[in-house]
Amino acid sequence: MWSGTCIAAGSLDREDSLPTTPFHLGWFLGNSFGVHGWNQPWGGRDGADWAQPDLHIDLARALERACFDYLLLEDSLFVPDNWGGSMDFYLSRALRAPKNDPLPLVPLLTQATSHLGIVPTISTSFYPPYLLARLIATLDLMSDGRVGCNFVTSTAERAAQNFGLDHHMEHDTRYEMADEFVELVTRLWSSWDEDAVVIDRDAGMFVDPAKVRPIDFKGRFFASRGPLNTARPPQGRPVLVQAGGSPQGRAFAAKHMDCVIAAVSTIAEMKEFRADLRRRVTTAGRAPDACKLFFVVQPTLGETNAEALERSRRRQAHREAHPELALAQMGTLTDIDFSAFDIDAPIGELTTNGQQGTLKRFLAQGRTLREIAHNYRYGYEDLVGTPEHVAGAMVEVMQEIGGDGFMFSGPVTRRHVAEITDGVVPALQRLGAVRTAYEHRQFRDNLMAF
Ligand SMILES: Cc1cc2nc3c(=O)[nH]c(=O)nc-3n(C[C@H](O)[C@H](O)[C@H](O)COP(=O)(O)O)c2cc1C
Repeated sequence: MWSGTCIAAGSLDREDSLPTTPFHLGWFLGNSFGVHGWNQPWGGRDGADWAQPDLHIDLARALERACFDYLLLEDSLFVPDNWGGSMDFYLSRALRAPKNDPLPLVPLLTQATSHLGIVPTISTSFYPPYLLARLIATLDLMSDGRVGCNFVTSTAERAAQNFGLDHHMEHDTRYEMADEFVELVTRLWSSWDEDAVVIDRDAGMFVDPAKVRPIDFKGRFFASRGPLNTARPPQGRPVLVQAGGSPQGRAFAAKHMDCVIAAVSTIAEMKEFRADLRRRVTTAGRAPDACKLFFVVQPTLGETNAEALERSRRRQAHREAHPELALAQMGTLTDIDFSAFDIDAPIGELTTNGQQGTLKRFLAQGRTLREIAHNYRYGYEDLVGTPEHVAGAMVEVMQEIGGDGFMFSGPVTRRHVAEITDGVVPALQRLGAVRTAYEHRQFRDNLMAF
């Protein structure tokens, strides 16, 4: 629960508390326009350029300057009507729509950078696996190994209806599909050997046919003969990411993923998540460090700690004055219309076919919806202060949880981005907590470098 105080940077000037292993950094970009702060101070041109890629390009360049591992582009496939059964709340605030498809952004962002990993989101419930395998392979080839993929099962009933279903598939079935989906696309990426493209002018051979073969995949949900009609991606298998927090989501991650992102708001939850995920990864027969875990954080910065605290207080006051914002947002993640409940009555147990991990955390924040809306955090927010103070606190948190990285999020104003990339990250670098230069050229190599 929010305490209203900065977390102490403590004893970081003591030699023995300095980090020995650096941690990783990512940025979680809420991809709908409403989160870009268009009507906030520092919101830029009041949204006039919302459809243009310039803000994303500036963001990617800033992240690369700060040696981030990757930028994740969130996505969803519906216009919500989870507040009062209407789309009005969301459309008028540009929450979740308009939202351009993130995939065309990928080559623009890789062209504007040279090392940053770019991770678009795709739905394992609605994307045809062959098309996805080809699309991601193409992007990885064009960027020389800097692309990943955030696999989501898509949780909204309205998304399912956009693809012709009356009702969405059941939560656990979606994960069974996702499991098969990833297995299939991975096999398609392997349908060409690494050295299949020979380009031998003298022999008149571009591709060695002996090094390309069908996969003849027949599963419960998908089938594909293969081979892929483009070459093996430079990373072999582009970086695989996912964020589902339910037991099924964690099992899916443990089996396949290179990186998991978690939006939890206390150190205790981070420790639990990390211990559980590493146990699951080991049980799946993989080394625990093969699957990185990044926690979503949203710091509040200021010139002084007092100024940052004041900004944080204002943010909390806004939250308390407008509980409908958190409730309507949660409605889109859980397919529950919270406007239908008494905001001051005990809420009790609820179930969802949407994001189960997220709903469970949400309901644990209080007795009534008003309490929950006041207390709920999408990620860890107890990072309030000057860049130096926040950097020190991040190092302490990471030492407490043991690894592997943080995903920054929050409003995508150029001001907020600069506070992180030109304020917090240089302070982290001075502490030796994050890299000061990329170790490798390709995305996975950097992610696995420590
Ligand atoms: C930090 C975070 C980011 C996510 N990003 C997306 C996204 O971009 N698109 C989406 O459809 N789902 C997204 N999800 C949803 C999950 O990937 C997952 O499908 C959902 O949480 C259901 O899983 P669960 O029931 O295992 O929690 C995100 C979840 C979290 C916690």
